[in-house]
Amino acid sequence: MITAGIDVGALTAKAVVLDFDMDRPLRQTQGRPLGRCLMPTGASPEQAGGAVLVGALEEAGLEADAVQASVGTGYGRGAVQGVDWRITEISCHARGAWHLMPDARTVIDLGGQDAKAICLDEAGWPLDFEMNDRCAAGTGRFLEVMAAALDVELEELAALAAGAETTATLSSTCTVFAESEVISLLAESRDVAEIAAGLCETIAQRTLQMTNRLQVRPEVVLCGGVALNAGVHRAMERALDMRIVVPPEPQLVGALGAAILAGERAA
Ligand SMILES: Nc1ncnc2c1ncn2[C@@H]1O[C@H](COP(=O)(O)OP(=O)(O)OP(=O)(O)O)[C@@H](O)[C@H]1O
Ligand SMILES: [Mg+2]
Repeated sequence: MITAGIDVGALTAKAVVLDFDMDRPLRQTQGRPLGRCLMPTGASPEQAGGAVLVGALEEAGLEADAVQASVGTGYGRGAVQGVDWRITEISCHARGAWHLMPDARTVIDLGGQDAKAICLDEAGWPLDFEMNDRCAAGTGRFLEVMAAALDVELEELAALAAGAETTATLSSTCTVFAESEVISLLAESRDVAEIAAGLCETIAQRTLQMTNRLQVRPEVVLCGGVALNAGVHRAMERALDMRIVVPPEPQLVGALGAAILAGERAA
């Protein structure tokens, strides 16, 4: 069965097209989508959702009518047209991460605008979760603002942080105040690498606070676009004092889970 998952996030829209078969070991097949696509959400979640599905179908070499079941998820899921079901990001990230890593018991999704930690049971269903969707602190947007303040590319932050001899302490978690702090540190000629390391540490500490109430059990899977930042990955491992796994293409985990849930619901 051809299924599609469309995850319209606050910053990026993602789609995954799968050849779903309930009877085959899922993670051997679903781990390798037939097609996937990622683009900025922009001003229209509706258009972005449609466009990423077209992109993923193109990569799969399929026409739109080939899709037999579909799920929309993410912040913009209400605007996605033509899907069979709309399911929360919590469920979709849990499903996607568990299928990539059956030992996963905690999933941390650091997206562009929110951060979530989800506890899973042994079958990969969410038991409990915590979410920060009230401010940009601890999210990708925070890092984007700080990269701009440092005048470096977002992708450079991790390499810079890795080269730092010490870690600058940033006392503000608020994006606006932290940006002022970064500007002050630059004015004091503080090394950019040390500030980059401090920013990764800030994200890790903020995420650690978010998980306080939860029981964080291994394996811990880190996904969402911020998982591409190796500096944050390492800082998170230090903060939790646990090994954390980042799957290949961590930004697509929610869309993958959506495509899997579409297959499971339709089967
Ligand atoms: N190569 C990269 N290196 C570091 N960070 C990256 C990279 N690519 C993307 N990001 C980060 O990923 C973030 C977007 O992540 P993602 O696509 O998971 O967010 P989203 O799903 O749109 O947001 P949300 O889940 O909050 O609605 C960007 O803000 C950026 O910080
Ligand atoms: Mg997201």
